[in-house]
Amino acid sequence: METNPLIDQLEEKRAASHAGGGKDRVAAHRAKGRHTAYERLDILLDPGSFRELDAFVEHRSGNFGLDKQKFPGDSVVTGWGTIDGRLVYVYSQDFTVLGGSLSEVHAQKICKIMEMAMKNGAPMIGLNDSGGARIQEGVESLAGYADIFLRNTLASGVIPQISVIMGPCAGGAVYSPALTDFIIMVRDTSYMFITGPNVVKQVLNEDVTYEDLGGASVHAAKSGVCHLVADDETQSLMLVRELISYLPQNNMEDAPYFATTDDPLRSDSALLSIVPENPNKPYDMKEVIEKVVDEGYFFEIQPDYAANIVVGFARLGGHAIGIVANQPMVLAGVLDIKASEKAARFIRTCDAFNIPLVTFVDVPGYLPGTDQEHAGIIRSGAKLLFAYCEATVPKLTVTTRKAYGGAYCVMSSKHIRGDLNLAWPTAEIAVMGPEGAVEIIHRRELAEAADPVAKKAELAAEYRQKFAHPYIAAARGFIDDIIDPRDTRARLINALQVFGNKRDSNPPRKHGNMPL
Ligand code: HXC
Repeated sequence: METNPLIDQLEEKRAASHAGGGKDRVAAHRAKGRHTAYERLDILLDPGSFRELDAFVEHRSGNFGLDKQKFPGDSVVTGWGTIDGRLVYVYSQDFTVLGGSLSEVHAQKICKIMEMAMKNGAPMIGLNDSGGARIQEGVESLAGYADIFLRNTLASGVIPQISVIMGPCAGGAVYSPALTDFIIMVRDTSYMFITGPNVVKQVLNEDVTYEDLGGASVHAAKSGVCHLVADDETQSLMLVRELISYLPQNNMEDAPYFATTDDPLRSDSALLSIVPENPNKPYDMKEVIEKVVDEGYFFEIQPDYAANIVVGFARLGGHAIGIVANQPMVLAGVLDIKASEKAARFIRTCDAFNIPLVTFVDVPGYLPGTDQEHAGIIRSGAKLLFAYCEATVPKLTVTTRKAYGGAYCVMSSKHIRGDLNLAWPTAEIAVMGPEGAVEIIHRRELAEAADPVAKKAELAAEYRQKFAHPYIAAARGFIDDIIDPRDTRARLINALQVFGNKRDSNPPRKHGNMPL
């Protein structure tokens, strides 16, 4: 084969860049069960689609002997590729190069790719594996972080941004993922915290492990920082591919359509008996969702956090939808601080990216108590209300059972621009449940009754007959129709077609003042 010295030189230099921190460090990295930055991109992207930029960029620092430690490409790999044929921009931090630490040029590489993603309207995916700010570079590294934070913020609501945490992510570095739309963590190998176990020990004299302080389970179940957890690196990257399938390229487009063989008119008789006769008995709202959506497939987001509300993506008639649903199985589906914030965030994500919202309602109200009041349920509950009120995507609501009090208003009611509000015949739409109501409106009668228990039951039955159904709300037009539960899928698919071209807007302003 003909040789060309210039091409040989190019290949040599590219190979040096590809080698990351060198054989030994790559071997040590692999020994921990990790993939290299390039291997991760190969798993994430369609085969052969990755195009790298800035493979020859080198840092410019001479501090602490860094001038003798140059790695072409520095500690991050950046570029673009495709997922199911759709363009995405990516960065993948390389822990084998100076611990993946963020140098001035590392940040510049990420910023360059973020700006391209915004200009060209395509999602940005960041694979994080870094020891944080490159300590030898000092404030230049901090400046680099701030440059990234600014771009994360400006890109928010313009293009989808997804962060995968595949190793350490500590200190101020956590704020780039935190500003993005979704965070996926890898179980046992990734962690996120503002200050590590050593600082916690010094300041608070508390002993805590990396995992217990900021591992995947902690952020999935306790803090709510993380949206999805994967058992290994490959699964985390598959989750990104799946997530992307529900999202548009940018805020000016719709999510992709996926043809389905699932009959749009399919009725499911199990829906008729899913709500128990006893109104205080729980049932699994996820079963309702699965019986309605295409192929029974629901991609749940934040499944382990605030499980009293369920959020996630599915498709109806091939079109992506965002689902928000009270979960009677957990805390009777009550709204509390965590549930309100979880749902509010999800609603805003869907609204930003033109994904219609379908809400399934069975909610007894807001959770009472000093814990909740003192922690600010007023402010947090208002976030959910605000998110629903300002959302202009098609909003479809199905009330399966309880819709009581303030929670009735909040959960995508007609009054806050619900486009189609349906109820099952089992719906109870009232200011409160019968037992609570009679205790207030019949207090004197109950106090004077010879048999207060029997009297209460009698009055509650009377109240139930009068109010615990959907017909009064339907008589006022607050419920558009009361439907046979078996027809839920057909009715929602029809509504998506009818409201698919909906145009709605909010008053011109710099931005609303959401109660944060
Ligand atoms: C420069 C770093 C580095 C860093 C790691 N390395 N972090 N170099 N700057 N931030 C280097 C190590 O010196 C080491 O080089 C190599 O990367 C691998 O690191 P190890 O410590 O051997 O790996 P491991 O045992 O897996 O531990 C990983 C780690 C640890 C837990 C991340 O390296 C660590 O604690 N690093 C420092 C983390 C930190 O405090 N960062 C600054 C946070 S403040 P050699 O050559 O010795 O093998 C911050 C502020 C951001 O990030 C603010 C934004 C606003």
